[in-house]
Amino acid sequence: MSATRAHTALVLNGPNLNLLGLREPDVYGSTTLAEIEAECTMVAARLSLEIDFRQSNHEGFLIDAIHEAVGHVNGIVINPGGLSHTSIALRDALAAVPLPVIEVHLSNVHQREDFRHTSYVSAVASAVITGAGAHGYTLALEHLAMLTDGGDEVLA
Ligand code: DQA
Repeated sequence: MSATRAHTALVLNGPNLNLLGLREPDVYGSTTLAEIEAECTMVAARLSLEIDFRQSNHEGFLIDAIHEAVGHVNGIVINPGGLSHTSIALRDALAAVPLPVIEVHLSNVHQREDFRHTSYVSAVASAVITGAGAHGYTLALEHLAMLTDGGDEVLA
């Protein structure tokens, strides 16, 4: 544990989120993932947080990134995309690591199809932000900064 080590958040994005801006803009908005990353970087700097921002269309990549985060980050912000509703393995990976998890969805999944109403990730998340659009990511970073304030102890 070191007082000088900056707090770091892993911001993980699952399948199809690389298409933000083009993908169903009526549902997900017109903000691209690169713009969300830029906004997160700005807000993180204000919160004295460093961020490691990633996207993958592959479940195994996301699971590896979660495992590798242990000892390097203080918490995880994740938009698991469609894997929220299908992946027990992703849920198990998040449960396996000693890190707070904030789940983010751009759309309000509860106003959408029934199959989106269940997220396997929610049960292992400290908080869930759904329906706040791109702003959900920066809300999540603010919450994570609050949770980990003075909290180097979560760096396992
Ligand atoms: C999403 C909601 C999911 O149901 C969907 O499969 C996504 C995006 C969201 O950000 O609103 O890919 O996670």
